[in-house]
Amino acid sequence: MLLTDASEILRMISADKYGIQIMKILLLNGPNLQLLGSREPDIYGKTTLATIVADVTALGKKLGIDVEAFQSNSEGELVTVIGNAGVNGFSGIIINPAAYTHTSVAIRDAISAVALPAVEVHLSNINSRESFRHESLTAPVCIGSVAGFGAFSYQMALLALAKRLGVTSPELNCK
Ligand code: DQA
Repeated sequence: MLLTDASEILRMISADKYGIQIMKILLLNGPNLQLLGSREPDIYGKTTLATIVADVTALGKKLGIDVEAFQSNSEGELVTVIGNAGVNGFSGIIINPAAYTHTSVAIRDAISAVALPAVEVHLSNINSRESFRHESLTAPVCIGSVAGFGAFSYQMALLALAKRLGVTSPELNCK
């Protein structure tokens, strides 16, 4: 644990010293996902959002990627954060738009407008649930989607996005 912290500090100091930009990924979560852990655990599992963010952040560290997470219940806030992602130095986006997946033209347009590779994530398999969840307005403007693997969907999304962004790491060795 301590060793990990020390190597992390070293990594950041040397990146700063040599002007190396550490790749940053934006991890976005939409409405009601702050309730993960207690929200319909039969569907969404028992893992909290804090744990999901910690796990994705830890995987990011192994890949040499900084993960910054943001959750909002507000469509407008999500649109603003997505719109600023490019100028804020993010190389890509992982997003669980939650219920906005099925309703939000504004979030779809924001992902399309910012022109960064985005991966859509769902804990549940939206295709095996109610028919209103079968349509995703956001998936067509993402490079891919991961759904149905619970909290692990997020880690799969990070691996896929890192690979697409050209990150090289033993974690990404499969061809
Ligand atoms: C969800 C699926 C959505 O249909 C739902 O509205 C959510 C969570 C998922 O992660 O499985 O809030 O995005």
